[in-house]
Amino acid sequence: MTSHETPLFYDDLEGTRLEAWKLLTRGVADRRSAFHTPTIATVGLEGAPRLRTVVLRAAEPSARLLRFHTDARSGKVAEIARDPRVGVHVYDARSKIQVRLDGVARVHPWSAPRAQASWEASRPQSRAGYAQAPAPGVVISAPHEGDVREGEGVENFNIVEVEVTAIEWLYLFHAGHRRARFVWEGERLQGEWRASWLAP
Ligand SMILES: Cc1cc2nc3c(=O)[nH]c(=O)nc-3n(C[C@H](O)[C@H](O)[C@H](O)COP(=O)(O)O)c2cc1C
Repeated sequence: MTSHETPLFYDDLEGTRLEAWKLLTRGVADRRSAFHTPTIATVGLEGAPRLRTVVLRAAEPSARLLRFHTDARSGKVAEIARDPRVGVHVYDARSKIQVRLDGVARVHPWSAPRAQASWEASRPQSRAGYAQAPAPGVVISAPHEGDVREGEGVENFNIVEVEVTAIEWLYLFHAGHRRARFVWEGERLQGEWRASWLAP
């Protein structure tokens, strides 16, 4: 798609929702895609927003799930335990598409079968990150103290699954921007997306 061609999803609500999931799904494998490294927002322990970049490890449209890996000792794990509501943000400057998601996060410890499968699929370099001796975010007296690695640190490995409950789309286009919102209505396993166009 060149920047002047009107994409098929342009005036198509259902097509827009499918495009959002397609970009997320592609972002898992495509390291150059902006969707590979979304920003995740949590509610901080003091109630202020907290943002950080993570690597998107899985996107499952039918289950409305996103998955990423993290360290059990990281601030976001404690924040999700206190309030599981999260926001996810991506802006892809090449396609001029912003996607914002609302979701509910659940942390799975390393011992959960789904976490074990993710650990086994992780590269040695990624595994070593979890063995870092001082916990992430603690104050250290010299920068190299954070370089310490002992073993692989599987016990610090957590996966976070985000159940997506709303999707907001913004597409910047010369002929007119398009903004849409999709809200999941119903139960976790059964429901439907309520879709609307919004004024950009
Ligand atoms: C490109 C990039 C990718 C990252 N991927 C992850 C990730 O997949 N998981 C993770 O926990 N932190 C990742 N980080 C580090 C986080 O942005 C953050 O600094 C760290 O997790 C601590 O966040 P917290 O204290 O809010 O929990 C990544 C950082 C960058 C710059």
